[in-house]
Amino acid sequence: MSEQATEGQRRVWTMGDYPVIARHLMPISVETVDFVGVRAGHRVLDVGVGTGNAAIEAARRGAEVTGVDLTPAQIELARARCTSEGVKVDLRVGDAQALEVPDATFDVVLSVMGVIFAPNHGWAVAELARVCRPTGTVAVTAWAGGGWSSRWRSRTAHLVPPPPPGSPAPDEWGELDEVVRRFATAGLDATVEERPFDFRFPSVEDGMEVFLGAAGPFVAFMETASALGRGEEARAELRAAMEESNQADDGTCVLPAPYLLAVAHP
Ligand SMILES: C[S@@+](CC[C@H](N)C(=O)[O-])C[C@H]1O[C@@H](n2cnc3c(N)ncnc32)[C@H](O)[C@@H]1O
Repeated sequence: MSEQATEGQRRVWTMGDYPVIARHLMPISVETVDFVGVRAGHRVLDVGVGTGNAAIEAARRGAEVTGVDLTPAQIELARARCTSEGVKVDLRVGDAQALEVPDATFDVVLSVMGVIFAPNHGWAVAELARVCRPTGTVAVTAWAGGGWSSRWRSRTAHLVPPPPPGSPAPDEWGELDEVVRRFATAGLDATVEERPFDFRFPSVEDGMEVFLGAAGPFVAFMETASALGRGEEARAELRAAMEESNQADDGTCVLPAPYLLAVAHP
């Protein structure tokens, strides 16, 4: 990955207060770990481990778990969380596109909203395939197209300069056929299904506060928009996107954010 893209990603995922977002996303990790049947004795790799959601869930089931993340600040938070939750995970700073792991090491290689942020999806998927044992399982989750992730980005894209070439394109992982194709390129036969997920907040105002205060990509977007003198406009567009997406009719805020779960075997 280019030095610029690496630094950009590290900066984004150090902004805000990611553990707040991780708590919202925890059900996706639990579902993924359940779906692939992680059990005691498995060697598991969590790529883009963040603050440890899937890794910790796998370790609780008795697996021997390694977690890799590009962002040192995320690894530090994951270490602190593992200590406070009393679970053992081998945590390392590293790039999904060039894993410092021998071939065919893991029974389960998973990535929950992690490798989707690697700019070169071909390298990333090839690495997941390389480190998976021949009898193992690779599982990746991505935000499905049309949900909250793509909705806010498309709604606000006109307010900030386009990302430089070589930037991650997580929304490109949002189409089921495209995900199957990406896995096939690495020699993996993937089954992909869309699963429901909702962000839930007591109100739209609370949702705004959580995303703008805690989620790195939103914080970075607002920083750029504000530097261009478009902070108010950006905030208004985000609020409009949230109000449009909100499915609740009781004053709360429910944002549909379905995700794709791809499960593949070498
Ligand atoms: C949305 S967070 C997901 C974290 C965690 N899996 C979870 O479910 O909460 C995305 C994570 O991917 C990491 N990341 C981004 N690009 C990466 C790369 N090329 N290699 C490894 N990790 C990466 C970020 O640092 C961040 O921690």
